[in-house]
Amino acid sequence: MTEVTERAVLDALRAVMDPDLHRDVVALGFVKDVKICGGAVGFTLELTTPACPVKEQLQQQAYAAVAAVEGVETVNVKLTAQVKSTLGPASAAGEGIKNVIAVTSGKGGVGKTTCAVNLAAALAQTGAKVGLLDADVYGPNVPVMMGIKGNPQAAPGGKILPLEAHGIKTISVGYMVEDGQPVMWRGPMLHRALEQFFKDVEWGEIDYLLVDMPPGTGDAQISLAQLVPLTGAVVVTMPQEVSLTDVRRAIGMCKQVKCDVLGIIENMSGDIFGQGGGEKTATAYGVPYLGTIPLQPSVRQGGDAGTPVVLADPDSEVAQSFRTIAGQLAATISTRKAFELPILQV
Ligand SMILES: Nc1ncnc2c1ncn2[C@@H]1O[C@H](COP(=O)(O)OP(=O)(O)O)[C@@H](O)[C@H]1O
Ligand SMILES: [Mg+2]
Repeated sequence: MTEVTERAVLDALRAVMDPDLHRDVVALGFVKDVKICGGAVGFTLELTTPACPVKEQLQQQAYAAVAAVEGVETVNVKLTAQVKSTLGPASAAGEGIKNVIAVTSGKGGVGKTTCAVNLAAALAQTGAKVGLLDADVYGPNVPVMMGIKGNPQAAPGGKILPLEAHGIKTISVGYMVEDGQPVMWRGPMLHRALEQFFKDVEWGEIDYLLVDMPPGTGDAQISLAQLVPLTGAVVVTMPQEVSLTDVRRAIGMCKQVKCDVLGIIENMSGDIFGQGGGEKTATAYGVPYLGTIPLQPSVRQGGDAGTPVVLADPDSEVAQSFRTIAGQLAATISTRKAFELPILQV
């Protein structure tokens, strides 16, 4: 009987390529804890995000590659993920926060908050540690759309504890002001509030912190870019021409504050507003197109009820669209980080 060696297992796994990173899983350092006991082989594939859209595919390919090695009788592939930080050491965002993603748009009412809560929910469902920071201090909608009420409490160290729902940690000015009370702050107050949301909130470990932005290209956008290094921005648009003009402005602003555009989402796509504009704009500006969310009552109902449609109706097509976009986004972030992955020589 042929003895199975670690070298034979690793050699077989070199045939398994990550389709986004264009390298094999051994060179990428994804293969961990190889254990061999006679004809039984077990190992872990540690990916760069639990939201990896091709994780099952990679697992199956790894399984098949090792199963074909001479002498191997059983194969056990464990999948895990370790999200890498794009922010650099000692980032101003806070120690445990690995990625900060602004969800933005040129104008209001296009579905930023809706996309932010649903993407957060979709990422959290994969097992990622997710936070949601409501930077729309003048119109904070995160509490309602997440179904959260209450006052944040102080942690033992004096920091503010975020409020949690659906496995997502959140903070919002909405938790601190009376319902219906207007927030009327000048720029410096807003800046200070955003700063506190990063520094004085006990976020703990966060793989993806989504920041729900107010509409437009104003104080909050400038403050955010000054306060923390951003992984990048997701720009939400509606399909029609007026909305797209605003998108161009939003992309221009991202460029000015040196924030990467991670992609465009076309929301409320369908008969009423048309479709396809978001993709055209993405192509024209050379930024990734993340996908389309149709105009659908269940999306609004989920928002009003405080249970994002991704969770309220997980089998629906629109929930699937949000999951696909979340996967694309996570993959885009991992790919941007790829050049810093150690390349192992084994
Ligand atoms: N795809 C969609 N289908 C139906 N209604 C939607 C959709 N996206 C957003 N909405 C609704 O449109 C309104 C505005 O969305 P919102 O996320 O608050 O936009 P923004 O944060 O950009 O101002 C909300 O009532 C929301 O429920
Ligand atoms: Mg909003």
